[in-house]
Amino acid sequence: MTTTRSDLPLLFQPITLRRLTVRNRAWVSPMCQYAVDARDGVPNDWHVVHYGSLAVGGFGLVMTEATAVTPEGRISPEDTGLWNDDQVRAWRRITDFAHAHATAMGVQLAHAGRKASTVRWWPTETPGIVPASEGGWQVVGPTSAPGDGVEAAHAVHALSDDGIRGVIDAFAAAARRARDAGFDAVEVHAAHGYLLHQFYSPLSNTRTDRWGGDFDGRTRLVREVARAVRAAWPDHLPVFVRLSAVDWRDDGWQLEDSVRLAADLKLLGVDLIDASSGGVAQASIPAGPGYQVPFAEGIRHGAGIPTAAVGMITGSDQAEEILEQGRADVVLLARQALRDTNWPLRAAHELGVPASDAPWTPARWRGTWH
Ligand SMILES: Cc1cc2nc3c(=O)[nH]c(=O)nc-3n(C[C@H](O)[C@H](O)[C@H](O)COP(=O)(O)O)c2cc1C
Repeated sequence: MTTTRSDLPLLFQPITLRRLTVRNRAWVSPMCQYAVDARDGVPNDWHVVHYGSLAVGGFGLVMTEATAVTPEGRISPEDTGLWNDDQVRAWRRITDFAHAHATAMGVQLAHAGRKASTVRWWPTETPGIVPASEGGWQVVGPTSAPGDGVEAAHAVHALSDDGIRGVIDAFAAAARRARDAGFDAVEVHAAHGYLLHQFYSPLSNTRTDRWGGDFDGRTRLVREVARAVRAAWPDHLPVFVRLSAVDWRDDGWQLEDSVRLAADLKLLGVDLIDASSGGVAQASIPAGPGYQVPFAEGIRHGAGIPTAAVGMITGSDQAEEILEQGRADVVLLARQALRDTNWPLRAAHELGVPASDAPWTPARWRGTWH
């Protein structure tokens, strides 16, 4: 059966950002695996299998877990990194595999700031901070105030001007390595209460120097990181930024702030905003199906920039409707992708896409629905 591209559901139409064309709009959201048992930031067999299975499952783009730009930027000692060449080589194996199956790969570049050096979030572990005696390290933030989660036990070092410059340089160096590692896109992680969000949220940044204060001061770090990453990353490939679009608090960061920041980031050459929320301080979050889609929609229309919607998107009809209503340009799946690594293949079937137009890899072809 032949079908013209425009007859396909939007979910299975390609999207082009700069000169990167991604085969469909069902993408994998970044998800920490905490699986680097060697604690050297080098992805291993687990990561090959995990990301490989998502690539053959038909996702258009697979975003890596939060990948630290410095050892101190790791959330847990078992996070992946991109601060040395061993890590570049290990990631290359994964991106080569994904490309062999027509899947694009993005890397989420991250610094956890005051939320670093915590015990990996696995059911087998007891949550808490990792003390120096067990391989933990000095964490940094905009001020010496710790966060209000498990990281509350940290003594935080407030970053100096030089320290901040070092963070910006580390993001740029990681972006250069990301290209050597074969990635197609980089995403700056500026959400979920990690370092860049710690700087732009008024709940965590009470600095009075040029890195704090008003909107411009508090957003300076994320803007400088975006500028440095854009300069270090090939012109023909896209840069994304994940924002916490709101803090879910009356005294916190609001959607209108995100729209304004997204417009600034667009001028700096950012190509897509990945609209998540929360994480910098305790809040009551009304989670439910598609609960963050209004943020992707508000930023898309308010700042005129492509967006990704994420958060409790699980159904093929639900995903297609978000795209058809123009609320986002792509959808990201996290937990649903863990439950069903072949979700795009199932979604294509459910939406009536002929198997020949669905993202089946040849070795799996006999599994197509009839
Ligand atoms: C196991 C797991 C790990 C996660 N790690 C990250 C991460 O590294 N970076 C990030 O930005 N979000 C992370 N998230 C959040 C997801 O990307 C996503 O925004 C969130 O789970 C909501 O989407 P969902 O309802 O499809 O799961 C993680 C979520 C899960 C379930």
